[in-house]
Amino acid sequence: MKVLVATEKPFAKAAVDGIKAEIEGAGNELVLLEKYTEKQQLLDAVADADAMIVRSDKVTPEVLDAAKQLKIVVRAGAGYDNVDCAYAKEKNVVVENTPGQNSNAVAELVFGLLVYGVRNFYNGKSGSELKGKKLGILAFGNVGRNVARIAKGFEMEVYAYDAFCPKEAIEAAGVKAVDSQDALFENCDIVSLHIPATPETKQSINAALVGKLHKNGILINTARKEVINEPELLALMAERTDLKFITDIMPDANEEFQKFEGRYFSTPKKMGAQTAEANTNAGIAAAKQINAFFADGCTKFQVNK
Ligand code: 3PG
Repeated sequence: MKVLVATEKPFAKAAVDGIKAEIEGAGNELVLLEKYTEKQQLLDAVADADAMIVRSDKVTPEVLDAAKQLKIVVRAGAGYDNVDCAYAKEKNVVVENTPGQNSNAVAELVFGLLVYGVRNFYNGKSGSELKGKKLGILAFGNVGRNVARIAKGFEMEVYAYDAFCPKEAIEAAGVKAVDSQDALFENCDIVSLHIPATPETKQSINAALVGKLHKNGILINTARKEVINEPELLALMAERTDLKFITDIMPDANEEFQKFEGRYFSTPKKMGAQTAEANTNAGIAAAKQINAFFADGCTKFQVNK
């Protein structure tokens, strides 16, 4: 079986070596398409692929139509909003993700960015500390749980809300569960977003919500840019001159946000999961899932059932 690894943003070399060893070890063939710049390159590469491993690469109906032999796509990572799952289902293509494999990397970046933020982006002026601050975690999945674990090391007071996770499960992790998104923002100094981009969550982080943050509040987004209502956040930051917004997913209105000097920071590229460890974990998990699918039809991580 031909397995295409199509990554506009490539995996670390160690991860590619690991994926190759897994795929070839199971008697399958690996084809690499890295750092491609034109959609046509992807369309050509998928033409004879039986399986595909991607990161945030867009798997659109056009890509799926071009992939005449495709049976499975594995998104090496958590969020699969880049894959047209419904269309894949129509075409009998299994879509899977690799939950939890890169979550520590994203959680560590949250704290790298937060320390940078509370220390005024290292501008030499006196900043503040994370210890004792109230941190709200929006969605208590794999990343949210890792964020909670690290926050406790900083001696933060940790709160969480997750529409799909029972309060008891949050409390069992030693985190205070609140009843709503509103309550999370109302209670906290900092809110860290870990929600997926779905029709329900897109644009959901709006002025009414973020405006509830305590004075000198920080919104940190390492989830998806689509969940933020950018025009409302821009208007709110103009009004609430104490608020900071930090992200590793550059918003569409990056230039406008940059006007809030000292209150806004975005990494130039999405880089939460950009570590050798996360790439290796997610990449090898994807390769193993594909091997298992071809060996015995295993679809344990299917997300388009
Ligand atoms: C994910 O959904 O797993 C993360 O956002 C990482 O995405 P990336 O592989 O594009 O860095």
